[in-house]
Amino acid sequence: MTGTKRVFIKSYGCQMNVYDAERMGEALAADGYRATDSMEEADLILLNTCHIREKAAEKVYSELGRIRQLKEDRARSGGRLSVGVAGCVAQAEGAEIVRRAPSVDFVVGPQSYHRLPQLTREAVDKPGVVDIDFPAEDKFDALPSRAKPGLIARGPTAFLTVQEGCDKFCAFCVVPYTRGAEVSRPVAAVIAEAEQLAASGVREITLLGQNVNAYHGEGEDGRDWDLGRLLMRLAEIDGLARLRYTTSHPLDMTDGLIAAHRDLPALMPYLHLPVQAGSDRTLAAMNRRHTADDYRRVIDRIRAARPDIALSGDFIVGFPGESDSDFEDTMRLVEDVGYASAYSFKYSQRPGTPAAGRDEQVPEDVKSERLQRLQALLNSQSADFNKAMVGRTMEVLLEKPGRRSDQITGRSPYLQPVHLDVSAGAVGDLVQAVIRDAGGHSLVAEALEPPRAAATPELVLGGPA
Ligand code: 5AD
Ligand code: SF4
Repeated sequence: MTGTKRVFIKSYGCQMNVYDAERMGEALAADGYRATDSMEEADLILLNTCHIREKAAEKVYSELGRIRQLKEDRARSGGRLSVGVAGCVAQAEGAEIVRRAPSVDFVVGPQSYHRLPQLTREAVDKPGVVDIDFPAEDKFDALPSRAKPGLIARGPTAFLTVQEGCDKFCAFCVVPYTRGAEVSRPVAAVIAEAEQLAASGVREITLLGQNVNAYHGEGEDGRDWDLGRLLMRLAEIDGLARLRYTTSHPLDMTDGLIAAHRDLPALMPYLHLPVQAGSDRTLAAMNRRHTADDYRRVIDRIRAARPDIALSGDFIVGFPGESDSDFEDTMRLVEDVGYASAYSFKYSQRPGTPAAGRDEQVPEDVKSERLQRLQALLNSQSADFNKAMVGRTMEVLLEKPGRRSDQITGRSPYLQPVHLDVSAGAVGDLVQAVIRDAGGHSLVAEALEPPRAAATPELVLGGPA
C-alpha cells in the first residue's frame, strides 16, 4: 500500500450504480487509493456506466475518447494513467470496449467489482483484461466492511443493495441481461451492513434492488423472508430513523409489504411504483403481466393502509405499437392516480431486447409530443403536491449545508428537498418543521423544536400526520 494513488470515479445511471461506486471506492480505499475530483490528477479513472437507455454506450465511448488524449499526454511526460470501465455497459459490451477503445486497461462487470484491486494490478502487465463473470462467490462477502470510510463522503442517508437482477423480462428492458437473474442477499448480511452504516452516523437507509419488493432472502431463522419482514427487522436497529426502498414491480406488492406501510412508522410514506403505461394493450405488449386496473387496485390497497403515502412512477411513451388512444389511457391513469413525482422517457430500442426488433416503432416526433404532454401533466401534479404541503408540520432529516450559507437542506418524509435556516440543527438531526413555502422542486420550512440528536427506535414513532 502506497497511499498515494488517486482515483477519479464517474458514475452514470441509477441509484444502484451510486451504491456500487461507493463500494468500489471502499474496495480501492482499502487498497491504498485516495479520491480525486480531477481527471488530470488521477492515476486511475473508473467509469461506472449505465446501459438502460439510448446512447448510453455512445456517451461512454466519447468520454473514453477524451480520456485517451489525457492518457497519451501522461505517457509523453513519463507518467501512467489507468482506465477502467465498470457497470452495465461493461457487462453488455465486454471485450468490445477494449477493441473500440484500446486505452481501456480493464473492464469489470457489476458482479465482479470486488476484484477491482487485483484487476488494476493485473492490467498493468496485461492491459485489456475483461472480467464480466457472474462469479460463484458473493461479491458482498469479499468487499470491505462499511464501518470503514470509503472514498466518497457519507452523509446521514445511504443506499443498501438487498436484491439484484430481474426475472421479469419486460420487453423493453436490458436489466435481466446486464444484471442477471434475481438474487436476494441473506438477511444477516443486510442487517450487518445496516448496523455498520448506522454506527457510522447514517439515519436513513434506502434498500435497493431492480425488483426490490420481490426480495426473498434467507432469514435469521433459516426461512425465506420477504421485504416487509426485512423492513420490520431493520427498524429495530439503533439510530436508524427512516427506511425506504426502490424500485418495485406492482405484481410484488404483497399483503405483508403493504402491512409494513401500515405498521412501520420508520417506513417513509413514499413509494416508487413504476407502471410504464396505462393501456392494457401496451402493458401486454411490454410483458408487464398486469393490467392498468390491477395497478389501480394495488394503489387503492396501499392508500387504504397508509393514506398519506406519496407515489412516484416511471413511464415510457412510444413503445412499439402504442397508438394515440393507448397514450390517452396512460394520461388517464396518471390523472386517476396522482403522482408526487415521476420519471418519464421516450421508448428507446435496446439491442437484444424483444421489443427492439418489433415493427410498428413509433416515430420520434410522435414520441416527443407525447412525452411533452405527459411531462406537463406530471409536473403540474408534482407542483400541486408540493403546494399542498404549505402550512403542514413534518419531520425533516437535515442532510447537508444549504446552497446559501445561512441555510441547511434536508428531506421531508416524501423525499422533497427542504430548506431551513442553519439554526434549525446540524446535519443528521431530525427536526419538526412547519412548511412555509413551496417551489417547483423544493420546500422552505421553519424548525419548531430543538432537534433530536440520537433517535432510538421508540422515538421514530412520530411520522408525518
Ligand atoms: N426505453 C425507455 N425507457 C426505459 N426504461 C427501461 N428501459 C427502457 C427503454 N428501453 C425505463 C423504465 C424503467 C426505468 C428505470 O427506465 O421506465 O422503469
Ligand atoms: Fe426491467 Fe424493471 Fe421490467 Fe425488470 S421489472 S425487466 S428491471 S423494467
